Amino acid sequence: MAQDQLIIFDTTLRDGEQSPGASMTREEKLRIARQLEKMRVDVIEAGFPAASNGDFESVRAVAEIIKDATVAGLCRASDKDISRALEAIKPAKSGRIHTFIATSPIHMEKKLRMTPDEVIVAACNAVRFARNGIDNVEFSCEDAGRSELDFLCRIIEAVIKEGAGTINIPDTVGYNVPEQFAERIHQLRERIPNSDKVVWSVHCHNDLGLAVANSLAAVRAGARQVECTINGLGERAGNAALEEIVMAVRTRQDIFNCDTRIDTTQIVAASKLVSGITGFPVQPNKAIVGANAFAHESGIHQDGVLKHRETYEIMRAEDVGWNTNKLVLGKHSGRTAFKARLQELGIEVDSEQVLNAAFTRFKELADKKHEIFDEDLHALMSEEVTTPEQERFRLLSSRFHSETGELPLAAITMSDNGQEHHAESSGSGPVDAALKAIESVVNSGAELLLYSVNAITTGTDAQGEVTVRLSKGGRVVNGLGADTDIVVASARAYINALNKLLSGQERINPQGDV
Ligand code: KIV
Ligand code: ZN
Repeated sequence: MAQDQLIIFDTTLRDGEQSPGASMTREEKLRIARQLEKMRVDVIEAGFPAASNGDFESVRAVAEIIKDATVAGLCRASDKDISRALEAIKPAKSGRIHTFIATSPIHMEKKLRMTPDEVIVAACNAVRFARNGIDNVEFSCEDAGRSELDFLCRIIEAVIKEGAGTINIPDTVGYNVPEQFAERIHQLRERIPNSDKVVWSVHCHNDLGLAVANSLAAVRAGARQVECTINGLGERAGNAALEEIVMAVRTRQDIFNCDTRIDTTQIVAASKLVSGITGFPVQPNKAIVGANAFAHESGIHQDGVLKHRETYEIMRAEDVGWNTNKLVLGKHSGRTAFKARLQELGIEVDSEQVLNAAFTRFKELADKKHEIFDEDLHALMSEEVTTPEQERFRLLSSRFHSETGELPLAAITMSDNGQEHHAESSGSGPVDAALKAIESVVNSGAELLLYSVNAITTGTDAQGEVTVRLSKGGRVVNGLGADTDIVVASARAYINALNKLLSGQERINPQGDV
């Protein structure tokens, strides 16, 4: 008998973006969407179009470029939201409306202030309205994990009659435990007379660290779509981690009677891309994508693996995209080879100016670091996503002094709309001194929420990738900078964040208004 397909619905660009500080620009969303498509996810939830103009534009831009995945737009159960989402996903080769309303007693009474009957009417109206615009409609019962089973049966039967093709059962607050959640899915499938007409989906949050376990238990109970995010990014403690769901199902074929379409060799690249863009580092012991996930430390383990790999390894590192670190380009590589490799990595460069600036930086990097890996190119391009016009501030040169027993000093030259400024500062260390020098020019008044440094590849000649998160007036932005000198990388990251915050670049914090 042919195996069922488990549909992978990625919501990194929507629920993932709801993590405080993880908001992304349109260009960043496009880069992630391209990687998700390359990894062959089935559905990309690109955003919440009614939430803001920025989010509408991002969903539309994703819908325009993605050809091998369905692009979904989230909307509340209201005609206005649904119309906006229909408009945003219009260019998609395959689009989906994902509409939701809360169904738990506490949400209906305290948040919606609606009776259960009113909620059923609103849900049916929403699905009917959406079906007038598109065939592919998903309905979610928000807080289904705490909703009454009888009520869920009533509302779901009704929306299936209106034409919903996917029914999603979210554990919105991460309250469920695996046996209970699986039983819930089982009961719903058993008791709802038209349950066989739809795909059953789950969407689990990780408040008790059970998002993946609950999702997998639901798959055992017949769910055939899992909503998840790269690295488990998402609201509060996050969502179920895509990489863990996919690899559990792939590795334990004896347990799960289904499989996904995912090209698992793209998982690590997707993880690094999302981590770099959002500034959320991946813990070293994180399953599948953590730096230590395949590292054997103890002598007994190492001995076993050398004798027979499967003694201690249930998956192969290369199957999820580790060790694919290839030497891609060197200092003699030309512009054409550089551009071609970017294309292979799914990085589209639509402006010659951006390409030229990136190529110049590539050459500078190749002079300092002889081996350039894919990760280096990703980092380089994370900074070059803006055209020079969008770049109000630019670091022109820098000098740092740090010596045992001496006060660290930084001197920087930067431009503000083409006008050159020079500043010097001391600090507790060279990074502190450099950022203070920049601030003495810009006077941004922004609050520094996060500063983190990661080595992009191995070796002491690796580039350090710095993430800086700034907040001002309710807006939160991430800036990235990479260089073999981490003080320079820090200055670049800080300036990158200031450009997003102060140069009038679109949005950010797209879902903050709803
Ligand atoms: O967690 C949740 O309930 C959601 C829904 C909107 C699907 O994100
Ligand atoms: Zn959610």
